[in-house]
Amino acid sequence: MIELKDVVYCRLGTRDLEGAEWFAVNILGLEVAERHRGAIHFKSDSRYHTLCYFEGDPDEQVTAFEVAGRSELQAAAATLEQLGHPVHAGTAEECATRHVREFIRFTDPTGNGIELVVRPEHSGQRYHGTRDAGITGFSHVGLCTTDAARDEKFWTTVCNARVSDRIGDAPLMRLGSIHHSIALFPFHKPGIQHINHQVEATDDIQRSLNHLRDRQINITFGPGRHPTSSAQFLYFSGPDGMTFEYSTGVCEIHDEPMWRDRQFPFEPVGFCQWGSRPRIAAFED
Ligand SMILES: [Fe+2]
Repeated sequence: MIELKDVVYCRLGTRDLEGAEWFAVNILGLEVAERHRGAIHFKSDSRYHTLCYFEGDPDEQVTAFEVAGRSELQAAAATLEQLGHPVHAGTAEECATRHVREFIRFTDPTGNGIELVVRPEHSGQRYHGTRDAGITGFSHVGLCTTDAARDEKFWTTVCNARVSDRIGDAPLMRLGSIHHSIALFPFHKPGIQHINHQVEATDDIQRSLNHLRDRQINITFGPGRHPTSSAQFLYFSGPDGMTFEYSTGVCEIHDEPMWRDRQFPFEPVGFCQWGSRPRIAAFED
């Protein structure tokens, strides 16, 4: 079993690095950690970075997860190779740009780019964005799946994810106690479906709603509250059509043996208990 500790960063290719930086700083509210050879790394919490935009094809997207150490990484590589997932071991230069000790890259059964990393750096400095978005940290990703049952099996039996709840066939899965760190949404092609940052409070959601509206940002869902995780949320579009989410108040699951995953309908009411309707392709029938 590949034991994933947490989701650590996303990497997104873009043809407009300058535009992506403007969005990440002025709209999303992240802080530039480093600019290096056609890539910009952004902080959202005490980690060295949690998001990277790089010059490249917008279809090139990667989600990274931390594993405990070198032997666990080697064991993961062997398991993945055995299952027919070709593995690329990160070069010294690739490790240096990511500020990780070691990593491997592979694709999940749908074709999503995944990196497993060892010892991702913490900066020792707290994050402070230039705009007060109230972000407390990068928290979860939604990944597209072309076969939800197959991919749920991959993440829960090859890896250690546990299903907290399902919306239709879309599983919301935890790695630690937070309700979900990965969610899989049925879609016709691979890709990151959304990137979530937690914010401190309802006030931050409401303040961002006005900030985004005033700047003509496409708000695609919310404000609302998820009946699954009980988090209040706001979804909006970023560069290259990527969906970003702010949320606050995600529940935690501490009683592992007693938790039973719940089934919610794949309808607006399964996503929002305040009556908001999503305008996001993977959330609609
Ligand atoms: Fe989310």
